[in-house]
Order: sequence, then C-alpha cells, then structure tokens
Amino acid sequence: MNILVTGGCGFIGTNFIFLMKKRHPDWTIINLDKLTYAGNRLNLIDLEKDPGYHFVHGDICDQETVLSTLEEFKIEAVVNFAAESHVDRSINDPSPFISTNIRGAQNMMECARRAGITRFVHVSTDEVYGTLSMDEPAFTEKTPLAPNSPYSASKASADFFARAYFETYNFPICITRCSNNYGPYQFPEKLIPLMFTKATSNEKLPVYGDGLNVRDWIYVDDHCTGVELTLLNGTPGNAYNFGGASEVSNIDLVRRLLKILGRDESLITFVKDRPGHDRRYAMNFDFAAKELGFKPEYSFEEGLSKTIEWYQTNDDWLEKVRSGTYLDFMDKWYGERK
Ligand code: NAD
Ligand code: DAU
Repeated sequence: MNILVTGGCGFIGTNFIFLMKKRHPDWTIINLDKLTYAGNRLNLIDLEKDPGYHFVHGDICDQETVLSTLEEFKIEAVVNFAAESHVDRSINDPSPFISTNIRGAQNMMECARRAGITRFVHVSTDEVYGTLSMDEPAFTEKTPLAPNSPYSASKASADFFARAYFETYNFPICITRCSNNYGPYQFPEKLIPLMFTKATSNEKLPVYGDGLNVRDWIYVDDHCTGVELTLLNGTPGNAYNFGGASEVSNIDLVRRLLKILGRDESLITFVKDRPGHDRRYAMNFDFAAKELGFKPEYSFEEGLSKTIEWYQTNDDWLEKVRSGTYLDFMDKWYGERK
C-alpha cells in the first residue's frame, strides 16, 4: 500500500511512521510536512535511506503540492495528522489553527476526493466534545461536539467537513478522536515533556489553576494502533474514540513524575489558570473495541516509565529542540523559515 501521512515529522506522526514501517515493511510511506516549529525532519532522517519512505516538504493548504504528491506516488490511502496542536498557542493566536486545521484539512479531503483515494483517516481529538464534570460519564461518539478553545473549535470544524464529505460526496473518510498522548518525540511545550525538562533542570513546574483538571492519558503507540486499525478496517462515515483508560489529575501526574525522577515537590508552583480550561476528559472506546478490536496495551505506569527513560537517554534530542538547533539544520536545506 502507498500511504500519504501528513504531519509525519511531529510527535504522533513520527511514532506512527516508525510503527507502521516495523509492522508493514512492504508499505511505501510518503510524509508530507510543512516543518513548522513542531516538525523535526531529523526524527526520521535514518528512514530517508529506505526506498519505501519519502519526505515531501509542503503545506497541506497547498492544493498543487497535495495533488501532485497524490499523483506522483500513486497514493492509495491518506492519514491526516498535520495540525497546529497546542491549546495555549491557539489562545494566543487562533489564525494558524484556522488555516491548517480547517482550510488545510478540507484541502486534503478535496484533493483526495479528486484523486479518487479510497481510504482517508482524519485524526481528530477528544477535545471536540468539550468538558466533563467529575461525575459525568465518558464521551462516546454520540456526544455532541462542544469545543471550548480555538484549537478544539478548529478541530471540530474539520470533523464537520469530514462528515459533510461523507454525506455529500460519499467520500470514504473515517475520523479518529483520541485522548492525551504521551511518549517519545513529544515537543516540550506539552505537559509531560515540559515538566520532565523543567524538573531535570531544577526549574519551577508551572501547574495551571488548582491542578485538579483531569486528562485520560494514552501511550502514543496505542493511539497509533487505533489509527492503523481505522485505516485497515474502519467503516467510512464513522468516528472512533480511543483512550488509555488512565484518568489522572495534573497535580497527581506531576507528583508521580517528580517521584520517579527523585526530585522535590517544592519545585511545583501553581500559576494562573488557562482561559477556558476544560476540567476533565474521559473516553468511552467501547465502539472501537467492538468494531475494530482496539484495546490500549500500556498502563499509565508502564508508559510513563518508558517515556521518561526515552527522554533520559535522548537528552541530545531534547537539547536540540530546546535550543532550536534542529531548525538551523533545516534552514541549511530550506533557507530561512517563517
Ligand atoms: P505536533 O504539533 O507534534 O505535530 C504536528 C505536525 O504537523 C508537525 O510535524 C508540523 O510540522 C506539521 N504541520 C503543521 N502544519 C502543517 C501544514 N499546514 N502542512 C503540513 N504539515 C503541517 O502534533 P501531534 O501532537 O503529533 O498531533 C498530531 C495530530 O493528532 C493532530 O491532528 C492533533 O490534533 C491530533 N491529536 C493529538 C493528541 C495529542 O495528545 N498530542 C491527541 C489527540 C489527537
Ligand atoms: O486531549 C487531546 C489533546 O491533548 C490534543 O488534542 C492536543 O493536541 C494536545 O496538546 C493535548 O491538549 P491538552 O491541552 O490537554 O495538553 P497540554 O499538554 O497542553 O496540557 C495538559 C494538561 O496540563 C492541561 O490540563 C493543562 C495542564 N498544563 C499544561 C501545561 C503546558 C499545566 O498545568 N501546565 C503547563 O505548563
């Protein structure tokens, strides 16, 4: 199978490509990525020697690039990971989120429809469902969409386009909605790598509000397996929820991390809350379990230890990302980046 993966130089895309190459060595994977601040071509640089992997530097908003990539590589299936993904950045400036997450996603659907692509997985998020109180049942695929941040509003908008493309054009698209991922290669603006980086440098750990917001954590490979199952066996028109069955409050998570690292809790500092901060996410993934055989393999304890070990043994990756030198390396090939 020839697959186009967008956003493959980001956190989940990188893990997805590595895992698919391991599980399906016969697949040819084309990675189309704009290389924003979150995209790191170095992650997959060793794969560039593999004739079954190709990197294309491009923007999912650019119709010409997407159409020519679909044609040149005779693409049969598309997995759209590319997005602006950080909630705090969306609060600071929603515009790039509208461009990539709405216009870019719609452009991917339109180009794939024109090219006659027969499988398209659009990667969305649990955040489109909004927020839960502590005693409400977990989100199901039937929960109405009620996004609260510019990020989740942009993702929900793309979900509506996916629905419209299925209903209007019978376009074979599935949506995946997953909870908070963690694992190797996650950009250190997100909670776990941020707290790891700060704790190991003896810096204060900024916990928003009262720290009692709850997220359902899933190890990244389990999410990638969900996307793979959707790609192989998903029914067009369906959305599938994935979660890790691991609800943890932020303060509890930060304390566990400090304990594993042997650092003192006095590093924790409570800071002003994120505006519109969703209180709790929880995923009911019974539908994906029944239809696709999905089951998360990693407990939070296992996944967290594995993740910490990865960051400890790959401090050069973190250092390059923190100092921005991975961008200098890209600049040599692409000139000044905006
Ligand atoms: P990320 O920010 O780490 O990576 C995003 C990637 O997309 C980067 O490589 C970036 O260069 C690329 N990109 C951005 N704009 C682009 C454009 N216009 N054209 C081409 N490439 C572009 O994100 P992530 O955490 O890996 O998330 C991947 C997807 O999964 C996103 O769609 C996100 O909404 C979704 N998701 C993430 C999580 C999570 O916990 N991280 C959970 C559920 C769903
Ligand atoms: O739920 C899935 C979503 O998870 C994805 O769709 C998003 O792309 C991804 O970024 C993530 O969103 P969150 O906002 O939940 O993740 P983040 O790591 O930014 O924050 C996790 C929780 O930690 C959240 O309640 C806010 C809190 N937090 C975050 C940061 C960065 C802090 O308390 N302090 C911090 O410094």
